[in-house]
Amino acid sequence: MDVVHDIATLRATLEGQRHVRTGLVPTMGNLHAGHLALVQACRQASDFCMVSIFVNPTQFGPNEDFANYPRTLDDDLRLLEAAGTDLVFNPSVDDMYPGGQDDHVSVTVGSLAHKLCGEARPGHFDGVATVVAKLFNIVAPNEAFFGEKDWQQLTLIRTMARQLDMPLEVTGVPTVREPSGLAMSSRNKYLSDEERERAALINRVLMRIKAAIERGDRAYADAEARGARALTAAGFDVDYVAVRDAVRLVPPDDDTRTLRILAAARLGRARLIDNVGVAI
Ligand code: PAJ
Repeated sequence: MDVVHDIATLRATLEGQRHVRTGLVPTMGNLHAGHLALVQACRQASDFCMVSIFVNPTQFGPNEDFANYPRTLDDDLRLLEAAGTDLVFNPSVDDMYPGGQDDHVSVTVGSLAHKLCGEARPGHFDGVATVVAKLFNIVAPNEAFFGEKDWQQLTLIRTMARQLDMPLEVTGVPTVREPSGLAMSSRNKYLSDEERERAALINRVLMRIKAAIERGDRAYADAEARGARALTAAGFDVDYVAVRDAVRLVPPDDDTRTLRILAAARLGRARLIDNVGVAI
């Protein structure tokens, strides 16, 4: 497994790979089984599987956990090697944002970036879109893999790739969960043992709403309010529980084909997100 720390070396290394199908898994490191499911999907679909590890400063708000975000490169490299990764790209902030982050050209996503998690995290999704666009330009993969766990992120990267005519496929990979149903996340490290048990309620709340919709209940606003109440009663600080069009992330309307039920809530020091799909 090659490990490359700068863009120039990466470009030179990739010259020899242009004839084969390359796949890219963008990550911020601190890898767990959720990330490794993306690597698995990448390996199956590609001849050359690349993983990027870069804690992207432009997607963190001023009061968020950029400085404290867990950085575990040695463990990550061991896991990626065992998972059969061909190349790891681990650039520095200076290499990715020459001239600084404040005056950098950025990708502005539009309304998809402002709803749901975008309300609590202004600027977050423009930072994600910008770094992912840069990674796509640096690596030029045939296919890139993202987790359904971050459904809004997956949706806006699909939209960006389509609307900016980026010549690659964007593939979503189902969420990997703990046995309790809790979606795996690097931020679960911020939870105490007791909180980690309680955190599984998020998924149960979403599954309850899904079951109600599958039974024919179309009172979405009531379901959202019930879900938020259940989480608040258990000590969560709820950002949203929302039933949305799975593609446009707007409230369901006549054009809606599939729904996504999404939630974000804080528990202790962690901000947790989860979502599930439901056909109508
Ligand atoms: P990060 O949080 O490290 O996640 C990297 C990828 O792993 C994302 O596509 C995310 O959706 C996926 N992932 C995380 N937990 C998962 C789980 N439990 N099951 C399945 N997939 C999971 O998301 C980011 O980094 C960044 O925003 C990034 C896209 C790398 C841009 O900086």
